[in-house]
Amino acid sequence: MGSVLSIEKLTKTYDNGFAALKGVDLSIRRGEIFALLGPNGAGKTTLIGIVCGLVRLSSGKVVVDGVDIAENYRAARKKIGLVPQELSVNMFESVWESVSFSRGLFGKKADPAHVEKVLRDLSLWDKKDVNIRALSGGMKRRVLIAKALAHEPEILFLDEPTAGVDVELRRDMWEMVRHLRESGVTIILTTHYIEEAEDMADRIGVINRGEIILVEEKHALMRRLGQTRICVTLTEKMDHIPEGLFDRPLSLSPDGASLTFIRMGENDGKDDSLARLLKNLVARGIDFASVTSSQSSLEDIFIDLVGKSR
Ligand SMILES: Nc1ncnc2c1ncn2[C@@H]1O[C@H](COP(=O)(O)OP(=O)(O)OP(=O)(O)O)[C@@H](O)[C@H]1O
Ligand SMILES: [Mg+2]
Repeated sequence: MGSVLSIEKLTKTYDNGFAALKGVDLSIRRGEIFALLGPNGAGKTTLIGIVCGLVRLSSGKVVVDGVDIAENYRAARKKIGLVPQELSVNMFESVWESVSFSRGLFGKKADPAHVEKVLRDLSLWDKKDVNIRALSGGMKRRVLIAKALAHEPEILFLDEPTAGVDVELRRDMWEMVRHLRESGVTIILTTHYIEEAEDMADRIGVINRGEIILVEEKHALMRRLGQTRICVTLTEKMDHIPEGLFDRPLSLSPDGASLTFIRMGENDGKDDSLARLLKNLVARGIDFASVTSSQSSLEDIFIDLVGKSR
């Protein structure tokens, strides 16, 4: 897959001297869903703002589908849809006007059928003649999404699209994102709901303090850094772990009632360590009452990564 967006050695120092991006390299593949994760103030919105022409870069290069934004900003911007983090709509326009205007802004011919489809997909059709100020917060957010899709972009940025959004809209939104991806649109999203990234993304990028600290396929990341904590509860308490019981680090709870070990990697059913431990217990006549396991999430991995890079 070719790269649809390429960012090289990108830096941004704001006028007050704050370095928000410190040499970011990032290449986004055509048709992927890429989740950019990072704590508050990491530089996500700044990065997106530069690609979308809202923030001026300090140094570096951004190429959108073969077009350098410094050379032909308008041509590059036309390929991009942005759902911004902050609500930014003209409150006194109707939904229909606002979305149609966005399409015109990027030099696309009017296409009422397309605008209608976008509004229907976002359940905004019955609100099309309503002034935006008369919509609820979640509906205003839907309008922002409609505006971003009005000109049929190839790349869609979603900056915190689900912040303050109800469960139903979140579900609809992700459903729509999947459809867009199937139609070939590349999606770059930021979210603080890491489980959403775990569900949706093909690749994960982590940014912290203006630096990209990781870019990896989601499944590879989960395999590499994921862990399962397995706990065997014993029928009778034990005062020490018998010699040679297990070939891996095993710990006995302080009350002697359970044994715990950590299995690395994604749970793919191929690891037989638990079966071996249980057989060894049976062979020694040690009875157990239950086995429980808890798998680390992308969120655990994320917190660990960001914590380590502080
Ligand atoms: N106009 C500005 N002038 C000075 N500093 C700014 C400006 N805009 C953003 N910053 C700073 O740049 C850093 C990165 O901000 P940015 O909005 O890109 O973070 P973010 O990763 O999107 O955070 P969040 O998750 O809170 O949205 C922050 O420390 C912020 O205070
Ligand atoms: Mg932000």
